Amino acid sequence: MDPSTSSDITLHINGEKHTLPVDHRTTLLDALRERLDMTGTKKGCDQGQCGACTVMIDGRRAVSCLQLAVAAEGREITTIEGVAEGDQLHPVQQAFLDLDGFQCGYCTPGQICSAVAMLEEHAAGWPSAATGDVRPEAGPPPLTPEEIRERMSGNLCRCGAYVSIVEAVSRAANTPTGAAATAKATAGAGNTEEAA
Ligand code: FES
Ligand code: FES
Repeated sequence: MDPSTSSDITLHINGEKHTLPVDHRTTLLDALRERLDMTGTKKGCDQGQCGACTVMIDGRRAVSCLQLAVAAEGREITTIEGVAEGDQLHPVQQAFLDLDGFQCGYCTPGQICSAVAMLEEHAAGWPSAATGDVRPEAGPPPLTPEEIRERMSGNLCRCGAYVSIVEAVSRAANTPTGAAATAKATAGAGNTEEAA
């Protein structure tokens, strides 16, 4: 390995540490899929346009095709494989299943990761371009279909399952345990363990 172009890095993913050598040009998406066999995160456009590769980094949504793996070292990464709590699906996952929020399913991991983080952003009072009253004292706006569509606009669905996706996100937002589950998923895993 040429130390001028490659390094050993340690990625914290879904509560586990993974140490691996990477070429400095390797994206986080390729590190996940090609080096760590975590293929839940999908590659669509590979240029930041479709959202299929969305993961959470320190609780924030990020398109992993535009993130270098070396830049993600030391940060808490949550992928679709880490959203559920054991056998207990996250409310967003359950809502997608219950309401058919997918057709072929290729965009779905990115849609779900994006929705999980988006609900946390909304609960924290972040406005969107669809928010009428953006004053901090106004608090979170109602999560209307328009708000959901705007906040999820970075995630494209070639199958056009948008109507069901919006319904699923809306149901998850109103699931009593949804807020707690979302906070847990976006917080990442604090108790990292050596896995590789
Ligand atoms: S594959 Fe990353 S945004 Fe499309
Ligand atoms: S379900 Fe097929 S691309 Fe979205």
